[in-house]
Amino acid sequence: MPNVRTQVGIVGAGPAGLVLSHLLYLRGIDSVVLENRSRQYVEERVRAGVLEQGTVDLLAEMGVGERMKKEGLVHYGIELRFLGRGHPIDFRELTGGKGITIYAQAEVLKDLNDARIATGGQVFFEVEDVSVHDFNTVQPKISYRKDGHAYELACDFIAGCDGFHGTCRPSIPHGVLTEYERVYPFGWLGILAEAPPSSEELVYCYHDHGFALLSMRTPQIGRLYLQCKPDEDIAEWSDDRIWHELQVRLASTGWKLAEGPVLQKGVTGMRSFLVDPMQYGRLFLAGDSAHIVPPTGAKGLNLAVADVQVLARGFDKFYKTGDHTLLDRYSQICLRRIWKVQRFSWWMTSMLHRFPDGTPFDQRRQIAELDYVTSSRAAATSLAENYIGLPMEWD
Ligand code: FAD
Ligand code: PHB
Repeated sequence: MPNVRTQVGIVGAGPAGLVLSHLLYLRGIDSVVLENRSRQYVEERVRAGVLEQGTVDLLAEMGVGERMKKEGLVHYGIELRFLGRGHPIDFRELTGGKGITIYAQAEVLKDLNDARIATGGQVFFEVEDVSVHDFNTVQPKISYRKDGHAYELACDFIAGCDGFHGTCRPSIPHGVLTEYERVYPFGWLGILAEAPPSSEELVYCYHDHGFALLSMRTPQIGRLYLQCKPDEDIAEWSDDRIWHELQVRLASTGWKLAEGPVLQKGVTGMRSFLVDPMQYGRLFLAGDSAHIVPPTGAKGLNLAVADVQVLARGFDKFYKTGDHTLLDRYSQICLRRIWKVQRFSWWMTSMLHRFPDGTPFDQRRQIAELDYVTSSRAAATSLAENYIGLPMEWD
């Protein structure tokens, strides 16, 4: 019989929901997580791969970092490639030794689910018809169905961690949230391939045909992306066509791109989006439910983790002392950093993609920008400090 009462009801078992649930457990706060997909679906969905140092440190502190420390690939730089030449951006040198870790989102979620289950956490998968109510009172509720039965979960607070298409954000009355949005006129076609990564570092490539990205998951599995139309039909992209286009865009003298069987492929749209505030009454939005960034800066998962870190501290303070000032300032604290991350993600996207309406002037300006970033220490440092992750400012 599922719980009928909890302190924090969490909608969504993505990175935001599961990290929040475990952080609360570690602080002695009870939570219930309601997820509409199956555990297998959530753990197999191919998504993010780049973890900022702050995300890695938090997962380790939470006791869910053991496999990540063993299997994660630590990187101290990226390569920017344009006009057929690669240019390293050395994070270690530019940021005083900092780096990022490549470890798939799916693996992070497996580790978090294992930890929640091992510690008696309540995570319910395949729940239906989730809806949130009364969050403008001190006794909010979540109603849902599971295995054909209807349930109501009474909570002190609700955390809407249900992603961009979730139910929590649209449940907030019209007029409360201001939305900011930019939709890009392109998407990413991504593949997972049984091909060892052909480069030590991630390669972000600007090319006449459009952007390409070489990333990886393990020393045997590559993750690669091509800029495509936002509504690109994946059926029109045979594996051969994908590899051919990757070869053309990523070509560089003296360098070879290794190919291999394609394990998975898909198309993702690109947008920048956020709402201000990220809370209403006792409903708090966290992660993709409150904001989306284009993936060029590798920030979505990291932003989700940063939000719930602030939220967990706010709940902790409230339950320990009754003081809700940190919860009241949740949006303000998060949004100050989120806007900087939005700016960085937009900037990386604008610099590296071919815009359908781009003029020869725009293209020469993009090349000049890449030339500047790869030749000026000041500009490279700016990229590096954003990529490895900005600090949270709590004031
Ligand atoms: P989600 O992961 O979307 O989780 C929300 C959960 O809520 C889902 O499990 C969903 O099934 C569930 N849900 C939705 N509606 C309901 C409902 N009504 N009831 C119950 N449950 C519900 N980010 C990075 O940091 N680095 C990267 O390298 C990166 N690469 C990416 C590449 C791709 C191709 C994509 C698509 C994304 C990438 N991202 C990256 C973004 C990152 O994956 C997301 O930002 C991250 O998953 C956000 O986590 P979340 O928990 O907020 O939302
Ligand atoms: C990934 O490995 O999936 C990845 C890496 C860097 C990005 C986006 C996605 O900017």
